[in-house]
Amino acid sequence: MTTLPALLETLNITKSFRPDNASVEAVKNISFTIAPGECLGLVGTSGCGKSTLAQILMGITEADSGTVLFDEQAIDFNDTDTRKNYYRNVQMVFQNPLVSFHPRKTIGTAIMLPLLNYGYTQPEATEKLAQLLTEVGLTQQHAAKFPHQLSGGECQRAAIARAISIEPKLLICDEITSALDMQIQAEIVQLLLNLQAETKMSLFFISHDIVLVQELCQRLLIMRSGAIIESGTAHEIITAPQQEYTKNLIGAALNLTINR
Ligand SMILES: Nc1ncnc2c1ncn2[C@@H]1O[C@H](COP(=O)(O)OP(=O)(O)OP(=O)(O)O)[C@@H](O)[C@H]1O
Ligand SMILES: [Mg+2]
Repeated sequence: MTTLPALLETLNITKSFRPDNASVEAVKNISFTIAPGECLGLVGTSGCGKSTLAQILMGITEADSGTVLFDEQAIDFNDTDTRKNYYRNVQMVFQNPLVSFHPRKTIGTAIMLPLLNYGYTQPEATEKLAQLLTEVGLTQQHAAKFPHQLSGGECQRAAIARAISIEPKLLICDEITSALDMQIQAEIVQLLLNLQAETKMSLFFISHDIVLVQELCQRLLIMRSGAIIESGTAHEIITAPQQEYTKNLIGAALNLTINR
């Protein structure tokens, strides 16, 4: 059996913050890979460093040390051409959909922006916008609305449409359903499952809810205090967690599920 080269790989990523001279090691020496078409989950409690890691993968936060590789090439986030090419392939959806949109730009304009930036003509972008709105379960009327005129769920659908518009090979989702009620959360997970099956893009899905993550991901990384403390298939981890911390994550998520 041949193993495909990783789509994305991180090598020894480390990041500390120094608020008030008290150092917080948010990410400690993290190495992992995501294969083409794979859905990888990252699970851990609040403050364990998940968003810091995601932001390093997007070049929003600079790591103290370590390397991000895409298609086996080390990414220099300071190089404009490299960044542009990387964002063609790697996109992210954030927790709070409302703040990820410009308040005075319509949803349609926001979704078309990456298309125009990456070489679509105006007519091509307009046609693609119509197709994307349908794909994520919005109507054509949503294009003319401003972000605050959409519900949280609609806004998150629009954010997903914008992120997948240029057909990235990897979509990073950081707690994208946390601000939504359970019904809408389930709809967004189903949407991602459908999109992933259709496009075969890779997913890096981040959440504190391990039950939710295992609905989407074949493989999980468990993060605690900046480090990956356990990894394996979702089935292995859910049925035979090795660490007490992981057992607690499962217990907390099951409690949530029972109360749903
Ligand atoms: N810009 C920053 N300046 C200082 N400290 C920060 C900064 N960003 C994050 N931290 C700290 O780094 C640690 C990890 O934060 P991070 O936001 O990555 O956690 P998280 O796992 O995403 O949490 P949550 O589940 O609540 O979103 C926390 O202790 C946080 O206070
Ligand atoms: Mg976070």
